[in-house]
Amino acid sequence: MWSVNVLIGNELSISGLTATALANEFATPVFILDEVDFRSRAINWDRTLKLAFNESAGMVYYAAKAFICTEVARWINDIGIGIDVCTGGELSVALAGGINPEKIEFHGNNKSLAEIDKAVLVGVGTIVIDSLVEIERVSAVANKYGVVQKILLRLTPGIEAHTHESIATAHEDVKFGFSIASGAAWKAIEEVHKHTSIKLHGFHAHIGSQILDTDSFAISAERLIALLAQYRDVFSSELPELNLGGGYGIHYLPSDEELEPSVAIKALATSVTTNCRMHNLAVPQISIEPGRAIVGPSMLTLYEVGTVKDVVLENGKSRRYISVDGGMSENIRPALYAADYTAVLANRTSTSELISTRLVGKHCETGDILIRDIALADDIAPGDLLATPATGAYGRSMASNYNHVPRPPVVAVNDGKARVIVRRETEADLLGLDI
Ligand code: LLP
Repeated sequence: MWSVNVLIGNELSISGLTATALANEFATPVFILDEVDFRSRAINWDRTLKLAFNESAGMVYYAAKAFICTEVARWINDIGIGIDVCTGGELSVALAGGINPEKIEFHGNNKSLAEIDKAVLVGVGTIVIDSLVEIERVSAVANKYGVVQKILLRLTPGIEAHTHESIATAHEDVKFGFSIASGAAWKAIEEVHKHTSIKLHGFHAHIGSQILDTDSFAISAERLIALLAQYRDVFSSELPELNLGGGYGIHYLPSDEELEPSVAIKALATSVTTNCRMHNLAVPQISIEPGRAIVGPSMLTLYEVGTVKDVVLENGKSRRYISVDGGMSENIRPALYAADYTAVLANRTSTSELISTRLVGKHCETGDILIRDIALADDIAPGDLLATPATGAYGRSMASNYNHVPRPPVVAVNDGKARVIVRRETEADLLGLDI
């Protein structure tokens, strides 16, 4: 839940820096990113994949959508793993961070012609194709540049992953990819074969996000491998790569479990090897795309309390509302997915009674709730600091300017030092867009 360098003593500290010192230097709300934690998680996924699959280990592609900025792209480059981008914007950041285009994988269900052009021109390693029209588009652009572009086909293996409806992606009724069951996947394979400027390298599936069980991943592998076998039977050649996507769940609350890389990859390896053996296929290169499981627990958000209000309810009881200086603009996940978070008093300890509290933001909306019900100390007052763990994934990356609130900065901490890696937005930034 907390990153490895967080200590909760008299005051919360991260990498030896206290919450008060960080708030004084960088103001609040602020995202604090534990660099060592991020790097070690990325390295751990890579190492675990290599250990489990040996020479069949493909790439770990960090899913940039979880969180990316130029400095984090540089870390990805140092670590040597790949990156999954799904827009021209994410592609630009990956390139700005110096990532070798060969290690970039380009996703998206509606890539623009300009995005495809840029991806092929800079030489991204893989384009994951999502629709029939995109086969034509990528092929035409590759033709234009006189290259043969390596592609994967994004497939939907028909799995109802156990997660929130909006972040499950591999059942049949979704906008992504080609369904295996309906025959759309096979039709796409045949279409790809009509083009000489694109080369089918294998299949891809991403079944959803924040998945905590391993069964859905195993079934996805089973279905994709059955299709690889069908491909081999018809075309007498084996496709070299299978990308099984991301989606590994993390823990947000003290009571949650995290899907450890060793457990997740072991389940994948068992399913892949069993199914390949059954179909008499060589094990292809296995790639994965974890986003949340790398950056999620590495970041926390620090807020300052602004108001404490006891609201009398219809039943005569009262509810404590604590408002902080952020809210749904930098963490939309509670409002969008009913996601649960926790928070702790970060600038001091308290021995006062714990009160059932609703933690809310500063936005002009009743649904601007960060935590619906949390036990917090009765004596929490304006000026206190609260810290929320595990806000690294889909926090800053999904932040908005709702109510013209400038987006918070991201501060990286490492070895007792803090540095801004994404600066705080200013009102001038916002006004700068207006004509
Ligand atoms: N690969 C593909 C093709 C994806 O679409 C995604 C996430 C990932 C990898 C990374 O998934 P992860 O390992 O981070 O779970 N905004 C939602 C999550 C949406 C995920 C979209 N795709 C949330 O806040 O929960």
